[in-house]
Amino acid sequence: MARFCMLLAPSSNRVYAGVAPQLAAAELAATWPVAEHVEPTVIAGVDYLTFDADEGALPTIARQSACFALFAREGELLRPVSLPDVYTLDDDLVTIPKYQGKTNEQFTQLLLNVTLAAVAREADGPRQVLDPLAGRGTTLSTALRLGHDAYGIELDDKAFEQMASFYKTYFRRKRLKHSADVTPVRRAGKSIGRRFDLTLDGQHATVFTGDTRASAELFGRKRFDAIVTDAPYGVAHGATSGGSKDRSPAKLLADAIPVWASQLKHGGALGIAWNTLGQSREDLTRVCERAGLVVEPWEFTHRVDSSIRRDVLVARKP
Ligand SMILES: C[S@@+](CC[C@H](N)C(=O)[O-])C[C@H]1O[C@@H](n2cnc3c(N)ncnc32)[C@H](O)[C@@H]1O
Repeated sequence: MARFCMLLAPSSNRVYAGVAPQLAAAELAATWPVAEHVEPTVIAGVDYLTFDADEGALPTIARQSACFALFAREGELLRPVSLPDVYTLDDDLVTIPKYQGKTNEQFTQLLLNVTLAAVAREADGPRQVLDPLAGRGTTLSTALRLGHDAYGIELDDKAFEQMASFYKTYFRRKRLKHSADVTPVRRAGKSIGRRFDLTLDGQHATVFTGDTRASAELFGRKRFDAIVTDAPYGVAHGATSGGSKDRSPAKLLADAIPVWASQLKHGGALGIAWNTLGQSREDLTRVCERAGLVVEPWEFTHRVDSSIRRDVLVARKP
């Protein structure tokens, strides 16, 4: 066991920076449960997360959403520790797109990490990760960077187009060998939407346009290790149902969670970020339990702004 000090990544968002130390502690506790004496610490005016862990934790530490650098504490001194490179793609894949409604990048990685930590099945290749409310792809890019395959569904055609065109430009400019295509989706001779397919060296992504409640029809027999999503907050980005804005995403989640649960492999996990001011943890837990999922006791409650208090619920399919 060594005493480590993880230097927390500077956050461009001041509100998020304020809660980052607590969230970083909760993330480490969920993803490396054997870390001991986990505590946010300020050293010479700078935020660190300090904890005891063994060398085996280094890849998990490298993947922590807030990890900027790692030091081993030796008395009063901090000795730099090299971390393994756990990323298959550059961080600008996630940081370049800027748009209203984008989920905080650091938080997205936390959400993905804690959901994958709940998966109770051996990996037999890249993890199959679905974001069924994909927006312009923050979860998908985060999953791809960490070496997983990424799948998505998005109702908003414009968001889908912007995401597809960003990926096409990005991989062309980076001169990475890939294929990226948008093609129509037809059922019984009728066009029902579009799909985007991306193939990289050993990795894959597919995104459909459409309603997330139709996810099982769109993906057919495909099953996922993890379903990771940032639900609409019922504020600026309301859930759309029947063409009108439904300001409460609770109905959308009640309809969609049983569908998503049916798409998980056994041992797979669902991670949802949602606004607790619109729906309580107890209520969301009931929806997940009714869908046959077992909810983890982890909580990540934090304030985003006056109308959003965000939390993460992680549940496993037995
Ligand atoms: C909070 S945003 C997710 C943002 C995304 N993580 C990103 O960073 O781009 C929720 C997304 O859910 C989409 N959405 C809402 N209702 C939907 C539905 N019924 N089916 C599919 N997507 C839906 C919205 O268009 C929005 O893009």
